[in-house]
Amino acid sequence: MRKELLHQPPSATRFFLRHKSLSRRRAFLFPAVCFITGFAAIAQAGSPTGILGASAEEIMLLQSEITAAEERYIEGIRFLAGQIEEQPVVVARTGVGKVNAAMVTTLLVEHFQPGAVIAMGVAGGTNPALFPGDVIIAERTAHHDLGSLSSEGMRRWGVRNPIDDSRNPVFFPGDSLLVLLAGRAGQVVEFEPIGTEEEERIPRVVTGVVVSGDVFVRSSALRARLHDDLDADAVEMEGAAVVQICWQHRVPCLVVRCLSDLADESAETDYQSLYRVAARNAARLVLGTIKQLASVPAAQEN
Ligand code: ADE
Repeated sequence: MRKELLHQPPSATRFFLRHKSLSRRRAFLFPAVCFITGFAAIAQAGSPTGILGASAEEIMLLQSEITAAEERYIEGIRFLAGQIEEQPVVVARTGVGKVNAAMVTTLLVEHFQPGAVIAMGVAGGTNPALFPGDVIIAERTAHHDLGSLSSEGMRRWGVRNPIDDSRNPVFFPGDSLLVLLAGRAGQVVEFEPIGTEEEERIPRVVTGVVVSGDVFVRSSALRARLHDDLDADAVEMEGAAVVQICWQHRVPCLVVRCLSDLADESAETDYQSLYRVAARNAARLVLGTIKQLASVPAAQEN
């Protein structure tokens, strides 16, 4: 259950946005709720959607789609603000790892007041049913390396939010409206096929669990543990940090990842050959999500 934080009185828009984040159990109410309230709220805000990727390749496609682009450097970080499909957006590169991701997300939130944030890019697959190229829309995101470690294994916990001392969850929920829009985008977006010449696959799009830690995983044993312990579909190195900062600042957030490898002993080689196409496919889904937002009549009327 999403806790309400009390450290700052939310603006009307933020209040609106936060409160339409529904639990999975109430997902059936979505379409109606979104059409009546959600889309209008996002449009009214005029606040940009922040889009973050760790590397230049991960944000390249989004940047190339921005019109009326203006660049702004804050603490040395380049933020490109403009529009995609007439929706205000700000795109930035976080660099690799959770500390970098947290730093850039904080700058984004403080300087641009985004109405929503999407963290996107590549990941290692941890679900045996998924393959390189598949795209995961994170319904839940967790730090896999945060907790207490004993010889019996890892016990994970949510740390306290230093802003108001409430305890963070182990699994941060993806914003339900964004999950819905990304799911719709997944049904219409054309992805680049991925794989070898002998065996090319059209990517599948699934909703699932993304876990983050400050390590590049290339171990079948750890991959299996992440799947068994956390139900993880994918592992990467930034998403949970972005989501945690957004959670603590009450900004709706979503993580979207495309698998570049399977986080096993071949991960480094697979990553090298596949990360560019995987990065483009993650970006395609995010572009599609922005288009979904733009194509909703209620959003354009405001
Ligand atoms: N990003 C892409 N592949 C990854 C892996 N195997 N581990 C962590 N982050 C990743």
